[in-house]
Amino acid sequence: MKNPHRQDERSDDDVVDARVRIFDTTLRDGEQAPGFSMDRRAKLRMAQALEALGVDILEAGFPQASPDDFAAVAEIARTLKNATVCGLARCQPGDIDSAGRALEGAAHSRIHLFLSTSPLHRQHKLNMSKAQVIDTAVAAIERARWLCHEVEFSAEDALRTEPEFLAEVFSAAVAAGATTLNAPDTVGYTTPAEMTELFGYLRRHVQGADKVVFSSHCHDDLGMAVANTLAAVSAGARQVECTINGIGERAGNASLEEIVMALKVRAPYFGVDTRIDTRKLYPTSRLLTQLTGQGVPRNKAIVGENAFAHESGIHQHGMLKHRGTYEIMSPQDVGIAETRLVLGKHSGRAALRQRLQALGHQPDDAAMEAILARFKALADKKREVHDEDLEAIALGLDPEAAGPWRIVQLNTNSHLGGSASASVKLRHDDGHDVGEAAIGDGPVDAVLRAIERATGADLALTDFQVRAVSEGGDAQGQAQLTVRQGERDWRGHGVSTDIIEATALAALAIVNRLQRRTESAPLAPPAARAHL
Ligand code: KIV
Ligand code: ZN
Repeated sequence: MKNPHRQDERSDDDVVDARVRIFDTTLRDGEQAPGFSMDRRAKLRMAQALEALGVDILEAGFPQASPDDFAAVAEIARTLKNATVCGLARCQPGDIDSAGRALEGAAHSRIHLFLSTSPLHRQHKLNMSKAQVIDTAVAAIERARWLCHEVEFSAEDALRTEPEFLAEVFSAAVAAGATTLNAPDTVGYTTPAEMTELFGYLRRHVQGADKVVFSSHCHDDLGMAVANTLAAVSAGARQVECTINGIGERAGNASLEEIVMALKVRAPYFGVDTRIDTRKLYPTSRLLTQLTGQGVPRNKAIVGENAFAHESGIHQHGMLKHRGTYEIMSPQDVGIAETRLVLGKHSGRAALRQRLQALGHQPDDAAMEAILARFKALADKKREVHDEDLEAIALGLDPEAAGPWRIVQLNTNSHLGGSASASVKLRHDDGHDVGEAAIGDGPVDAVLRAIERATGADLALTDFQVRAVSEGGDAQGQAQLTVRQGERDWRGHGVSTDIIEATALAALAIVNRLQRRTESAPLAPPAARAHL
């Protein structure tokens, strides 16, 4: 009988061998890690973002794991139109049928079967002989192939499996109907050289190797997941399994954005391509951090806050002469608006002048000397000198007390599950006080609304970030707010042990900048304000 779902010819996949398929498992391997769980709505939002990003296969979950997982996979399967939607299943009839049912509405569906093959897992986890492992895998593939368009078979702990046995299992899997063979480094144990060797071996020894796609799936226990994945690609793997921000079990999975950008930046070396719209990498990474509440380290490659930031004076000077001196890709390639020359105690005159010009100030040489001296004094006290500090210095104000508005009183009230209220009393430099109160969705929202009322400013936020800038119970939190007005983003920062107060200070920093701007000379035209 012919499988009604099976598409015997997915023509482009068969002939375009220079394309690496991106198999995203953020919603399965990533979501199952502690701290990263998402509800159904969040999963659907993430799935739509991943499809827009251009992933080829999206592993939406493990339908047999829970009714909620089943429902999430089914909803994603019904919604996505371009990406292949995949459901994970053990080699057990119940799992397979459940995955098949969850994927019923999908335009392109895949069941991802997995079974351990390593001696350690065979003996201690499965209690199965080699022959039993092969029989179980074959029976599962034969059952799954009738329930979806394509079947992937994963040999769990493949990198600690005897290569001859792995080739035997994979040969049987091809004969049973699997079209993708995945060799996971389940415990993040292998090295790039071993990876290259294994994939080369498999491509030579698996019967029917030319009819299937080989896939890698690497964990990051020794910090080599991305390097191992790239080694697999060099040895012929044409599917890579990965997650946004590298989230996943224990130390995580190989990071999608790092793999994709390595393949793009080093295209002449790897000679392969992906379908990822790389300009969506950063927005997708940010969406995940918002949905899970888990940020990425500042120095995370591609999407970390420092990935396109330079503070050293020598680097900044080089960047201003030619960006290629210290950047191998442009921030816009990954969806980040601009390179940031962070102004701190390591920065020099060139970067300071560039930033002042970007902010609309053109100091002459004498004024520049005075600004530089005040900047250095402030940079010695603060980790980072922000735009609002620089503007105050350029206007001859004290950056630590630059008005016209300052906070005199701040009160907030919030109830679990209800709205919040805030009242503020602000003092203007001309001596008059304004008190206002507002309600909001939470205390932060309420404070922003109250400040808007008191000052008449419009604080429609485009970004809001809070992070700890010191440790311990009395840690200081830094709030960074961004507001867009016309063509320009205005950023404000506030630091306090109370994050609501830090937010209020950041909001007031923006209000003050906007008001000082209307009171002082007009800014330089936007072209002169462009960042690097
Ligand atoms: O790490 C692993 O082996 C897995 C399999 C289910 C593919 O996640
Ligand atoms: Zn895994």
